[in-house]
Amino acid sequence: MTEPTHNRMITPKAREEDAAAEKSLRPRRLSEYIGQEKVVANLKIAIAAAKQRGEPLDHTLFYGPPGLGKTTISTVLANEMGVSIKVTSGPAIERAGDLAAILTNLKKDDLLFIDEVHRLNRAVEEVLYPALEDFALDIVVGKGPSARNLRLKLPRFTVVGATTRLALLTSPLRDRFGSVHRLEFYSVDAMTDIVRRSAAILKTPIDDDAAVEIARRARGTPRVVNRLLKRVRDFALVLADNHITLDVARQALASLEIDDLGLDENDRRVLTTIITMFDGGPVGLSTLAAATAEEVDAIEDVYEPYLLQLGLMQRTPRGRIATRRAYEHLNIPYAAKPSDPSAPQSSFWDAEE
Ligand code: ADE
Repeated sequence: MTEPTHNRMITPKAREEDAAAEKSLRPRRLSEYIGQEKVVANLKIAIAAAKQRGEPLDHTLFYGPPGLGKTTISTVLANEMGVSIKVTSGPAIERAGDLAAILTNLKKDDLLFIDEVHRLNRAVEEVLYPALEDFALDIVVGKGPSARNLRLKLPRFTVVGATTRLALLTSPLRDRFGSVHRLEFYSVDAMTDIVRRSAAILKTPIDDDAAVEIARRARGTPRVVNRLLKRVRDFALVLADNHITLDVARQALASLEIDDLGLDENDRRVLTTIITMFDGGPVGLSTLAAATAEEVDAIEDVYEPYLLQLGLMQRTPRGRIATRRAYEHLNIPYAAKPSDPSAPQSSFWDAEE
């Protein structure tokens, strides 16, 4: 349900195996959870307070780029509260009746996880509002002049919503989440700890410098780091007696064409397209998507956030731009344009010439 829409670097078979192994690597309790310190600290308070009051958690919204653990942390929340979690997603709930069925099947205090909550349709959202606010289901019985509104009381529950696009959430929906948390890309330190933890679960010895190397090149994303680790582990098994050394890690990452900044061939293709086909940009999102044969959503959700974070791409009102740093990273000569803010400013001496 919450697997990424855009899978990177892997074949279908590898993907199935990875999905199973990835699950086993996910933390189940907050004490095992690495990174996102601010969010975790706030959640600890919310959990403790809810438990003291004997109430379910407030409705909670997580947003941020894909792969940062929105589902994982929701499962952790359910485990910490000692309640069951039901998992669904915005596009899976097609009609108001579908949501009504889900809601009436919830037991007291259950946690309902709605992934891609920005993709709920209007009719479904209308049913969700009173459910979130008053734990009530408003239904219309009958037709025409004899139609009547009925309000069904629901048991108390918690909705946890997740989205990669906060801006696409309607404000009435956003306002009904009592706590809203942004998940950030993980630091290299946190990623390194995740690599070590995952390697231990996978019973594969790993050198410290190798753990850092894999962590550094995984786009600040646990889902990516665990996938890389599994590929590196294959190399270690075949080439190095199942021990991950720096050398093995580098060799594996090179063969996966993950570069020094953690970009894969898809990321580089997006940047190269902006540079070679659009003279560095600006280029509109849909034009860029068409030129790279990617979906607009993939560019916005998967590639762009990390390229922006690294300062390789900029978003401007006129479109996307490849920055000077992108040219340098890709070894493409940079010719500054007069309008380019990163072009060297002409100096007093230039003016004199
Ligand atoms: N595996 C994936 N995400 C993780 C996290 N945040 N902490 C520990 N292990 C993880």
